[in-house]
Amino acid sequence: MTDFPRPSGPFRYGDRVQLTGPKGKLHTITLREGGELHTHRGVLPHSALVGLPDGSVVSNSSDTEYLALRPLLRDFVMSMPRGAAIVYPKDAAQILAQADIFPGATVVEAGVGSGALSLWMLRAIGPTGRLVSFERREEFAEVARANATTFLGELPANWEIVIGDLSAALPAEFGPGTADRVVLDMLAPWECVPAVAEALVPGGVVLCYVATATQLSRVAEFIRGTGLFTEPESSETMIRGWHVDGLAVRPDHRMVAHTGFLLTARRLAPGAIPPDVRRRAVRKTAYGDEDVEVWTPGAVGDRQITDKNLRKRVRDAERAAEGALRAAGDRRIADETQNETA
Ligand SMILES: C[S@@+](CC[C@H](N)C(=O)[O-])C[C@H]1O[C@@H](n2cnc3c(N)ncnc32)[C@H](O)[C@@H]1O
Repeated sequence: MTDFPRPSGPFRYGDRVQLTGPKGKLHTITLREGGELHTHRGVLPHSALVGLPDGSVVSNSSDTEYLALRPLLRDFVMSMPRGAAIVYPKDAAQILAQADIFPGATVVEAGVGSGALSLWMLRAIGPTGRLVSFERREEFAEVARANATTFLGELPANWEIVIGDLSAALPAEFGPGTADRVVLDMLAPWECVPAVAEALVPGGVVLCYVATATQLSRVAEFIRGTGLFTEPESSETMIRGWHVDGLAVRPDHRMVAHTGFLLTARRLAPGAIPPDVRRRAVRKTAYGDEDVEVWTPGAVGDRQITDKNLRKRVRDAERAAEGALRAAGDRRIADETQNETA
């Protein structure tokens, strides 16, 4: 059962709280009995926050003020430890809409990376849905598990991570036509399309999130070439913030201009040929070695994380998860004590 953290109500032990101090400096803490936030500006006991409404202002030992708010999921994913690059909230929102991730859905995801998109999808499928995330690298799966534990307080029972390559592992986990939705965020999604076509229910949606136009072209042509899907649709999402202050109303000077492209297509029923499929002039759909070279991680600008760095990220993520579990335990004990006293 995916029980997402309480999004409102007075702060309690076990809650994560984002504190914004002077000059906008952020500190994210998990409230623990006896816990304290130490900065060069003084000490703030966690107990000072317990019982206050979300959105309160608290002062530390030297009267420095902090605005206290529960982090939104978008705040959490942007600040959590990362093994691999994450899907940004702007793209996650579009993925949920375009892949039609619905409550109760059975969703396949690959790869899990740092688990950012997994958290959004777990929220969208709700407690009656099922998310199965495939990941080639165990260390990335560890980061994702730890991040989910930190945010949710525990690993949700309706989420499973399978270690392995999706194209090889998917048939063992999903029979033909048993997945409602498949979301691919990986370097070479076209390699997985045959296995995805087998696992998807007729009418089910496959969504690919890719970083470069060359990947987009290759996966679109591959999907088209199978004849098993509707015509692929592609898009990218740009969000431009605005500065709105009195008469100074203008777009922000800076924005995240490019993250990735989304491509969606729907699985046709076996043997179905849509009426508007026309035979087109032959395009360049065959790729040689030189084309493949263009999609290596280095060539597409994917920063390769060193093993040492990755081990550090895993440790950071696990430390945060341990803190969240400890705090959830403290809170359970406090609740039990309160119930016994009442
Ligand atoms: C960019 S990351 C995914 C990020 C993730 N969506 C998030 O929001 O945190 C891509 C991941 O896909 C994994 N991967 C690549 N090809 C795969 C495959 N064929 N099967 C399973 N995992 C794969 C990589 O190891 C990497 O962790």
